[in-house]
Amino acid sequence: MNLQAVITSVAHYVPNKVVTNQELSKLMDTSDDWITERTGIKERRFVEHEGVSTATLGEEAARRALAQAGWEPTDLDLIVVATLSPDYYFPGVGVMLQQRLGCNTIPALDIRAQCSGLVYGLSCIDGYVKSRQAKKILLVCAEVQSPVLDLTTRGREMAVLFGDGAGALCIEAVESSAAAGRGVLDSYLGSDGSGAGVLCMKLPGTATPGFIRASDIDEAKVHPYMEGKVVFKNAVTRLLETAQVLLKRNSLSPEQIALIIPHQANLRINEMVREQIGLPQERVFNNIQRYGNTTAATIPICMSEAVQQGRLREGDLVLTLAFGAGFTWGGNLIRW
Ligand code: ACO
Repeated sequence: MNLQAVITSVAHYVPNKVVTNQELSKLMDTSDDWITERTGIKERRFVEHEGVSTATLGEEAARRALAQAGWEPTDLDLIVVATLSPDYYFPGVGVMLQQRLGCNTIPALDIRAQCSGLVYGLSCIDGYVKSRQAKKILLVCAEVQSPVLDLTTRGREMAVLFGDGAGALCIEAVESSAAAGRGVLDSYLGSDGSGAGVLCMKLPGTATPGFIRASDIDEAKVHPYMEGKVVFKNAVTRLLETAQVLLKRNSLSPEQIALIIPHQANLRINEMVREQIGLPQERVFNNIQRYGNTTAATIPICMSEAVQQGRLREGDLVLTLAFGAGFTWGGNLIRW
């Protein structure tokens, strides 16, 4: 008998502090018009205090997802965390959540696939479920990015894009006969490391002599870097490729997808992809306007809001699409 990885609950948590485009324009040479026109973003959330970490946001989202599912932390037998902004260089956030939530001594795994964290995470969990290695799984996608942004004119191309937030999913292994067609139906993943240098944060790192030096900090090298236009073009191409592969190999037409939930990097990217796929706006969920790019957390935050707004219901066919640093990309076809 086959097992299906069914999403039992989804929840999100974002910090209360709202940072508008106008507020950023007081810190750097930018404007609400520029940011809105180029990206669609109007505001984002930043953690209120220094030291509020990725594990803190992830824990809050996880507790909400567990409560919704009616699960105790001790019911879990696997934690998967996706983040590019871990609390420590090591260990990962997974073990922190194991301890903070009060789980048994279950495996805790961190995934480093940046904006593709959710789609890689779901694919990985699907494998654990199908190979009968885990029954009740927590997937947490969380990011605290505001502390590493260069909030001056020098860093404006990156600084206006990103926000902090977290999403969490409870996923359960269900026998196909009982799943009523629900669960992760298919996943498609890709990577191209030739793009590593065009979207990255190199420091601190073992490739750098001295690992990290005071001069690196003085020269403001400890910030993310991106060649925006190169990333933009690759994102559109790979998101479309992912949608086409998943539709074709599951013999589906776009009209059969109830909702596409794409990564939230740029509203223009998502609009281009939507137009090429040929679906109306209401079939694609976007909230980048309010949260900016929360990297691994964008898709679960969208899922959580889509459920709250009644735009995602049990039995719906959902397509996730993601592209991010690495480059990494991919998607999941899910019967919700
Ligand atoms: N405010 C005002 N002006 C700015 C800003 C800003 N925040 N940032 C850049 N500019 C200026 C530039 O200096 C440039 O000025 P110039 O013409 O005098 O040289 C001008 O605006 C135009 O800049 P472009 O880089 O051409 O702007 P573009 O239209 O490409 O938009 C953007 C930039 C929004 C970053 C876009 O390229 C983009 O969204 N790229 C993809 C992002 C993405 O998908 N990231 C992947 C996920 S992230 C992850 O995985 C971690």
